[in-house]
Amino acid sequence: MLVSAKEMLQKAKAGHYAVGQFNINNLEWTKSILLTAQEMDSPVILGVSEGAGKYMCGFKTVSAMVKAMIEELNITVPVALHLDHGTYEGCYKCIEAGFSSIMFDGSSYPIDENVAKTKELVKICAEKGMSLEAEVGSIGGEEDGVVGMGECADPDECKAIADLGVDMLAAGIGNIHGKYPANWPGLSFETLAAVQEKTGEMPLVLHGGTGIPDDMIKKAINLGVAKINVNTECQLSFAAATRKYIEEGKDLQGKGYDPRKLLAPGAEAIKATVREKIELFGSAGKASE
Ligand code: 13P
Repeated sequence: MLVSAKEMLQKAKAGHYAVGQFNINNLEWTKSILLTAQEMDSPVILGVSEGAGKYMCGFKTVSAMVKAMIEELNITVPVALHLDHGTYEGCYKCIEAGFSSIMFDGSSYPIDENVAKTKELVKICAEKGMSLEAEVGSIGGEEDGVVGMGECADPDECKAIADLGVDMLAAGIGNIHGKYPANWPGLSFETLAAVQEKTGEMPLVLHGGTGIPDDMIKKAINLGVAKINVNTECQLSFAAATRKYIEEGKDLQGKGYDPRKLLAPGAEAIKATVREKIELFGSAGKASE
């Protein structure tokens, strides 16, 4: 069932758990994530970066694939199809392509411009029944060409954006896309608590979910995080399983070169990662509640 992320995140917030956003790259990724969410009776968000959208031919192809897959795989849990770190132009493309949710990443604009553009998108998303995520501060590291310095969000700026009526807010709290460096000081729970205090009931989003220790994830959920984004970890699992298959020479045995066989261990590895995260985030069994 393709839905906006609004209701699932409000439920997550009230129930003190988080919904996972897992980024997709192709058919195998999408299928693995959808089947796992269904198996675990969990709501799920499929994240699409602009780069991944382009790789998959464009947002219309992605939207058509996801909708058809939900139908043909009989996926009944709530699924949101969400643009990740969208540019202003990218948001409009996804609205047109039939996404159910978008993130407008206005964090690189001066706050006044971020507010103005976010405000415009709040109105359009409300009309279309779509959910909207905004960003304040920035997520460190790089994802698909989106580079952030990782500065922590200013809680007053977060309030200014939250008051516009967005459905979820990504606030930089020392989180980083990709692998965390060995000297990473950890999440700034002080910033997270201050942001939540200023923004009331706003579901907060934790980007850079790969490599954050479990205890920090749980603490972040306790302090108001209702959505956690995971991308790199599925890529690492897929790559490791594919490497193992090839290193064991399995592609050279029988018809092991058949793409349906070659990509199967990677697809299974993504399922295992998604399963682990859904357990950790606490969203298993929540779809039918
Ligand atoms: P990771 O790649 O670090 O898991 O981050 C994902 C993310 O935040 C997507 O926006």
